Amino acid sequence: ESATEDGERPTYSVATDNNYVPFEFIDQETDELVGFDIDLINAIAEEAGFDIEIEQMEFSGIVSAIPSGRFDIGIAGMTITEERKENIDFSQPYYDAGLILAVLEGSEEEISSIDDVDGKTVATRVGSTSEAYLEENTDANIEAFPEITEAYQSVLTGRADAVLYDKPNVEYYAETEGGGELVTVGDLLQGEQYGIAFPKGSELRDEVDEAMDNLKESGEFDEIYNKWFGG
Ligand code: ARG
Repeated sequence: ESATEDGERPTYSVATDNNYVPFEFIDQETDELVGFDIDLINAIAEEAGFDIEIEQMEFSGIVSAIPSGRFDIGIAGMTITEERKENIDFSQPYYDAGLILAVLEGSEEEISSIDDVDGKTVATRVGSTSEAYLEENTDANIEAFPEITEAYQSVLTGRADAVLYDKPNVEYYAETEGGGELVTVGDLLQGEQYGIAFPKGSELRDEVDEAMDNLKESGEFDEIYNKWFGG
């Protein structure tokens, strides 16, 4: 934290991930970190009048680093949950998501919804709301990988029967790297909302919320949204 009283622009540290399409990921051509969250936090910083220093780390690391105050801001498609709210303050919600199941093309009949996963191997990411959902609501054999791309690969190669994860990420992956071989089945499970994360009691949260209000009013938020999710 380096807020100054003499009108100089403060610089805040931002923790994010780099393996969560299309929110934060490395563009294969330019080798740069891009995505909806990256555009959004840059626009917020510009609007609020501060600079940011982005640090990339794996998602579970962000969830545990934010409460410790090591970073001023965390943005990583993080679902606002009651449990996380005990240690983290969240901004207003900025994206409506939810969980969806996906299987290898051709096995939609075997697993057509979450009701069919008991006794099957379901892959997901460790420390995610999907892992918690599977634990609480199913009798599936849960395989929680350090990175979600490994979970997708395990379905594509037939080692896991299905994958459960955030719908926007599943759909984006299915259309790109998934090459059409990963297909979603069943309904959206558990609606979720993403929020920007702050250490408890952070004064920055209100500033960010106000900047987000302005971006929503000016249409800039919609522009960024449409760039990544289509209009
Ligand atoms: N929304 C889910 C959660 O909060 C998954 C988020 C994963 N994000 C990431 N950057 N890998 O648990």
